[in-house]
Amino acid sequence: MLISGTGSTLANLIARIDDGRLRNVTIDLVISSRSRVRGVQIARQAHLPLQIVRRRDFPDVESFSQALVTPLDRSGAELVAMGGFLCYWRLPERYFGRVLNIHPALLPQFGGQGMYGLRVHEAVLAAGVPVSGCTVHLADNEYDHGPIVAQRKVPVRPDDTPETLAARVGVAERELYPHVIQRVADRGLEWLTRRAARRQAWLESLLARRQASQ
Ligand code: GRF
Repeated sequence: MLISGTGSTLANLIARIDDGRLRNVTIDLVISSRSRVRGVQIARQAHLPLQIVRRRDFPDVESFSQALVTPLDRSGAELVAMGGFLCYWRLPERYFGRVLNIHPALLPQFGGQGMYGLRVHEAVLAAGVPVSGCTVHLADNEYDHGPIVAQRKVPVRPDDTPETLAARVGVAERELYPHVIQRVADRGLEWLTRRAARRQAWLESLLARRQASQ
């Protein structure tokens, strides 16, 4: 796992591994881009292998990315799950198709550089959309971009604040991410790319039909 903050995503996965809701999954390494954050305490309390790799300790994104990739390679981890990881890094080719990210909105909307935490929910409320949710996608070298694997929708209520919407989306996130990770554990990494490709084809046919009906 790659983290940068409160670690609620990490804590959720640890709890589900501990109580058996998440099977055949181990967390072999946690890398945090910050040292004094709750997520680091959570990793330590769970006695997980932990590394701190701070962006500011590196002159450029290449050396920072290499400092992430070296321990990832060494850990032998098959899948990398980003949970509140806020730093841009460049994935080497061999990591494409095995790095997941979760975003607290229905991408491709309300994502991108600077779109994290309450800012996302503020933007959703400002747009006045009736539905929000969360997205699990395969990461590529753009913020909150890459093939979408799964989404879960939640209603936006007229009296919502960014905090109440974030809480409702958070509940959906804590269901969706373990669900996707369990599928990978059960069906292998290929399931991810197959699933993302099927979803992309479905999306394109939906858009084509809409266009045809206009
Ligand atoms: C989640 O809302 C996730 O969608 C976003 O960061 C938040 C997780 O933060 N990418 P954390 O796991 O509590 O640090």
